[in-house]
Amino acid sequence: MSQNNYFIKLSSNSFVRDIGKHKYIYNQLTKHDRMYNESGGVFLSFITRESKEKGVIISEISEVFKNVSRETVETDFDEFVKDLEEDKFIITGENLKELNDKEVVFSYDMKNPKTITRSYKDLMKDNDDSIKSTQEILYKYLENDTRLFSIQLELTSKCNERCVHCYIPHALKLDTLPLDTILKVLDEAKEMGLLHVILSGGEPLLHPNIKEIIEHCRKNDFVINILTNATLITDDLIKIFKKNNLDFVQVSVYSMGEEEHDSITQVKGSFKKTVENIGKMIENDIPIQISCPILKQNYKSYKNVLKWAENLKVNANTDFIIAAQTDLSKDNLRNRISSEEVEIVIQDIIENDEFYKEKISLDLKPEKKRIG
Ligand SMILES: C[S@@+](CC[C@H](N)C(=O)[O-])C[C@H]1O[C@@H](n2cnc3c(N)ncnc32)[C@H](O)[C@@H]1O
Repeated sequence: MSQNNYFIKLSSNSFVRDIGKHKYIYNQLTKHDRMYNESGGVFLSFITRESKEKGVIISEISEVFKNVSRETVETDFDEFVKDLEEDKFIITGENLKELNDKEVVFSYDMKNPKTITRSYKDLMKDNDDSIKSTQEILYKYLENDTRLFSIQLELTSKCNERCVHCYIPHALKLDTLPLDTILKVLDEAKEMGLLHVILSGGEPLLHPNIKEIIEHCRKNDFVINILTNATLITDDLIKIFKKNNLDFVQVSVYSMGEEEHDSITQVKGSFKKTVENIGKMIENDIPIQISCPILKQNYKSYKNVLKWAENLKVNANTDFIIAAQTDLSKDNLRNRISSEEVEIVIQDIIENDEFYKEKISLDLKPEKKRIG
């Protein structure tokens, strides 16, 4: 990076939070994060979503470091910017048009759409084992100073499906949180420095104010996920998802067999709607991921869902752990797989899931050399 003047802004996929004396930055597209303290933290605090001229930022920083020459501040800042830009946290350009053109927008045409980028190594600052991952530093730091990072909001318990394994008893699927309560919670969460909000249900798209809720989450600068069965997706909702730069929409798909899927949701025609709307979201470059819990019903076929998702360049998660119902009844647990079947599933995961394999091979490494 030359010493010339340039414009600079935070990428719309990057989110900055104060954590004690540190500045934390996270990018929802790359899933990378960094922690900065001292001068790095000060530099970062002057880089905003609105573009600024470097010269202006250097003047602002020089006000903080009064005993340091402007030239030294500028050299250090240029280096800081180069490093952050290489990892897509920020954008620089000679003019505002260049800044906008350089903004990376999620697309399924990308070589690696983020929905399938989930390498454990990505959590590491680099591949040097002596350097702790940001997550490690974060957990250590938060041991003594707990804070709210993520919340899951059940916007409504109402649902248009009757999934056999659901933890919400069907008889209790009646209530919807009023909009003002939800907005109040979101504002309190912002005050507390929240980063990540998950909108769930019931079926969250049944909430009459879903548009306002998503827009409020964006206004509060949260990383946003929506968990849905996708049967109620409309063109309008797709526009709202697009405009509000969601991290991803998670869709539940239980089987590639229409009857099998519908036997789990207990709604005939649900498979067709879900798959059709997944197609529409992909066409419109809405980042999605698939959730496919493993149950007695789909234990033999769940892998077809994973293969299908991979062909779509979409990440898919499975889980064989089924929670009991919230009224402490256990009727839904009759659908969970047996311990012998769990063993087979785990064996399958070890053999087929690159991410899991990589994670356990790193976990099994001898204790890494620590810094700090
Ligand atoms: C509760 S649903 C709510 C969002 C939406 N209605 C849907 O179907 O995805 C969110 C996810 O939780 C899963 N789920 C439901 N009941 C569960 C249970 N008892 N244990 C584990 N996961 C469960 C669903 O399969 C779904 O993937």
